Amino acid sequence: MCGIIAYTGKQQVMPILLDGLKRLEYRGYDSTGISIVSRKKIKTTKAAGKLNVLESKLQSEITGHCGIGHTRWATHGAPTDDNAHPHTDTDNRIAVVHNGIIENVDALKAMLDPKCEFKSQTDSEVIAHLLATHSGDLMTAVRDTLSLIVGTYGLAVIDQQNPDTIIIARNGSPVIIGVGDNEMLAASDMAALSRYTNQVVHLDDGEIAKLTPNGFDVVTMDSTVAHKEAMTLNNTNANYDRGGHPHYLYREIIDQPDTVKQTLSGRLDERFSTARLGGLNLEARDLIGVKRIIILGCGSAYYAGLAGASMIESLARIPVSAEPAAEFRYRNPVIEQDTLYIVVSQSGETFDTLASLREVRRKGGFVLGIVNSVGSTIAREVDGGIYMHAGPEVSVASTKAYTGMLTAFSLLALLLGRTRDVSPQQGNRIISELKELPDKISQVLAIEPEIAKIASKYKHSQSAFYIGRTNGYPIALEGAQKLKEISYIHAEAYPASELKHGPLALVTDQTPCVVILPNDDLLPKTISSMEEIKARGGPVIALTSAEGAPADRIAKLADHVISVPDANELTLPAIMGVALQLLAYHSAVSLGRDVDQPRNLAKSVTVE
Ligand code: F6R
Repeated sequence: MCGIIAYTGKQQVMPILLDGLKRLEYRGYDSTGISIVSRKKIKTTKAAGKLNVLESKLQSEITGHCGIGHTRWATHGAPTDDNAHPHTDTDNRIAVVHNGIIENVDALKAMLDPKCEFKSQTDSEVIAHLLATHSGDLMTAVRDTLSLIVGTYGLAVIDQQNPDTIIIARNGSPVIIGVGDNEMLAASDMAALSRYTNQVVHLDDGEIAKLTPNGFDVVTMDSTVAHKEAMTLNNTNANYDRGGHPHYLYREIIDQPDTVKQTLSGRLDERFSTARLGGLNLEARDLIGVKRIIILGCGSAYYAGLAGASMIESLARIPVSAEPAAEFRYRNPVIEQDTLYIVVSQSGETFDTLASLREVRRKGGFVLGIVNSVGSTIAREVDGGIYMHAGPEVSVASTKAYTGMLTAFSLLALLLGRTRDVSPQQGNRIISELKELPDKISQVLAIEPEIAKIASKYKHSQSAFYIGRTNGYPIALEGAQKLKEISYIHAEAYPASELKHGPLALVTDQTPCVVILPNDDLLPKTISSMEEIKARGGPVIALTSAEGAPADRIAKLADHVISVPDANELTLPAIMGVALQLLAYHSAVSLGRDVDQPRNLAKSVTVE
């Protein structure tokens, strides 16, 4: 959500800023801008719209070796040229890019000279004007200004009086330093740095850093020097792209057989019929003491948590619940010693998830993370966890990371199950199922043309419903989420049992209903729900792993059947999830939507 890139060094800065912005565009894409120190003057170019609009506006004669760039997801003020970052002071001496929200912006404005001219409606611009009231050391000016701010920030500042210096700061919104050879970078996200360096330093909240081509210094808000070591990150993803496919989303869907293999790699312990999850930092003795589990996440990560809750509860017989992270933290939750808390996040930076993690730890709870982004804030703050190793996810809609979350939960369910009632034989059967998961996902990918035809038939629907029962309900929720966010077709999920208590009133011959029909004990009941929809004329798309007579019955009732391989409760959510991703993808493509960057959304929601 909003991206920052900054560079100081020997190279021409403009191409580096533009490349960084291209890699950050998925974090926000309603406007972009850059400021460069060029011949001791700050030159700023900004544009509403995507990066190509900025590129067409930029004058190639702006040269320089130090600059900052930003891609925005609007919070304060509409996406216009003026509201785009960087923001400058009245004399154009200082330029600032800011991620986050300033809560006391009115009080800060009141501290400024009334003649001070504001050019935007943003909260961020006030920082540039406050900085301009200071002369002397830029680092001190930034620290003094930040001490006045109530709110969150990830920040980068340049000043024409310090032409090769960048000051960055963090409070609640990530900033990472990239250490190069006589050059230094900073960004809100590793994606923008990985082409230039694998040496990174994560700023912690309350830290401010000064970057010059020769190095960096970090201090805290009370001016204590913070000694920070650079860590080496694996850079194999530096050239991650669409892989020749029309969209990142498509690549990320079809990559899933491989990404699931990566999540499972080295973690299936056939000798002891269990999962090997060293990163949990928990011994069997600790696991056996767990009396309850609470899973926290936002959006699709929350839906993965709901599916994970069913997996763990059914194998380990421990009560497990999943909650939206923000709801949890604001209800002043009771934190218990024998409860295990799990936060789930692709980016590892989602503000509400991070805040819930901090709330639990502040109250003494033990928190595990299921995270994709290595070295992210959540990954660094949890007590232990499981990396998904799904690789970068660029498309805003989560697909392979969602499946990575499910796979990580299935490993955790196996491990916890084996500390309780799951026998070695059952453990081995689960391991075999998990090993078959990549192949079963490939079988779903093979029926893409059939799914594309169904998508095309219903693409003009105003609304669609997804229904599922118990384990099928989280699958329905995520299916509806994918459809609404990328196709903009209104889609809602309901527990199948709830249909007749209200939602059935909405069913007509114009509302396709996707019915999730796992081959489980509840199949006859879910078939009855399907009959209720058919009786009201609703077109039914049945997504099922049923075989034999029940499959025949489903085929007679449904208008369309998407048949997926049969699987157990640990792997079916991922298998069915892929079919629903394809349904959403083809609906969006046939409607001509911007599938990788859907309207109003952004990846990695680092504001509240
Ligand atoms: C939906 C989607 C979002 C994210 C949510 C949490 O496709 O991508 O709902 O799942 O914003 O993001 P992370 O997993 O980064 O915490």
